[in-house]
Amino acid sequence: MDSQIYGYGFLLPILLLSLLTFTSSALPENPSTTTAAAAQINSNSVLVALLDSHYTELSELVEKALLLQTLEEAVTNHNITIFAPRNEALERYLDPEFKRFLLEPRNLKSLQNLLLFHMIPTRIESKNWPFHHTSLCHEKVLLKENKNGEKTVGNARVIKSDDIIRPDGIIHGIERLLVPKSVQQDFNARRSLRATSAVIPEGAPEIDPRTHRLKKPAPPVPVGAPPILPIFDALAPGPSLAPAPAPGPGGPHHHFDGESQVKDFIQTLLHYGGYNEMADILVNLTSLASEMGRLVSEGYVLTVLAPNDEAMAKLTTDQLSEPGAPEQIMYYHLIPEYQTEESMYNSVRRFGKVKYDTLRLPHKVAAEEADGSVKFGQGEGSAYLFDPDIYTDGRISVQGIDGVLFPVEEKEVTPKAAPVSNIVSKPRRGRLMEVACTMLGAVGQDSHFSGCH
Ligand SMILES: *[C@@H]1O[C@H](CO)[C@@H](O)[C@H](O)[C@H]1NC(C)=O
Ligand SMILES: *[C@@H]1O[C@H](CO)[C@@H](O)[C@H](O)[C@H]1NC(C)=O
Repeated sequence: MDSQIYGYGFLLPILLLSLLTFTSSALPENPSTTTAAAAQINSNSVLVALLDSHYTELSELVEKALLLQTLEEAVTNHNITIFAPRNEALERYLDPEFKRFLLEPRNLKSLQNLLLFHMIPTRIESKNWPFHHTSLCHEKVLLKENKNGEKTVGNARVIKSDDIIRPDGIIHGIERLLVPKSVQQDFNARRSLRATSAVIPEGAPEIDPRTHRLKKPAPPVPVGAPPILPIFDALAPGPSLAPAPAPGPGGPHHHFDGESQVKDFIQTLLHYGGYNEMADILVNLTSLASEMGRLVSEGYVLTVLAPNDEAMAKLTTDQLSEPGAPEQIMYYHLIPEYQTEESMYNSVRRFGKVKYDTLRLPHKVAAEEADGSVKFGQGEGSAYLFDPDIYTDGRISVQGIDGVLFPVEEKEVTPKAAPVSNIVSKPRRGRLMEVACTMLGAVGQDSHFSGCH
């Protein structure tokens, strides 16, 4: 009986306070049911346990997000499972800009979705770790267990499974915050709004009739305007047989800053977690990143197939240390089209096998449907679409994959520095070579690289 009273006493003041303070702001559910819900909460509820637990940062956010009422209703109807990030994940390891975003009152909905993404409307004990579940914010979370029995939720490691067990739910401690796609997109949208409004409008790019190239410096292209030249022409001079990439969506009144979009998606990869190697390479290879930024500014679209850290870890040092190898690997993972999980999955479903151009000319990457997902490459060297739509802004799409892809011919022969001069067709070589040589020159490795002189 004591504990019953404690439950009331603990929750009710917070609830009333929430209601008094925030009557004007959007409460998640119908407030008329509040009293009933509050009366039913049990002191040994998982919700009471959460607010009383060492997950103080999460608890505070749940209160700030005005979610207590929603959650009380949830636990009266069914069990819930809560994935609770340890305090450090929210105190020290959260990007300050992202945290500010979450705490701004106008982004209440994002904060609520972020938190509800950590909760599943059913009871999941560590012994019945399933594959995926729909969270309370209606986005799916993937629960996995590897061969060593290590459990993960999305991209977070479970560090304390079955940490708190109650009759109406269970709490598992996880290493980091989970960020649902919708919230990441809200955050990106807010940031690019700020970035794009700062760009001064300019005229359309002109082609130099002699070189068939864009006249320099290329002014930014309005979003939605198709690029004047196919992307391969933008990479290298000469006539091209490659198809023009699809223009991205958007109105004619905005201008695009490709460089900051590229920075944005690298940031997103870092936030997302599990893609640090890839993000690192992009940060380190500044010329590759600025090349991508330039292409996007000129109006081209790109899909990045991003191998996750586990996949990158399987690369041998040989494969990475050859001069130009990281660039070549990256170029093979860049598709000059804007593709999302949905569009790729629909294509492979409809056509069986699909080949996408890559910026590593003339190599294409094959895709097919497998196990209800998209599989890239062939046989040993294949990779599944693993984390779909990590970043999608209408220009750049980033799709996480669980393997590093190599062109078919080179599968057995490891990329013995297959120099750019061999793998890029002659007429198109110029621009890529320029990029590669600049990069190699910068690290003092050009002597190994026959194509630079
Ligand atoms: C929660 O799960 C327990 C154990 O499976 C079950 O006994 C209980 O009835 C469930 N509670 C609700 C509200 O569904
Ligand atoms: C990127 O550069 C940093 C600092 O120079 C280095 O420690 C790291 O290993 C590099 N990462 C990759 C993937 O090359």
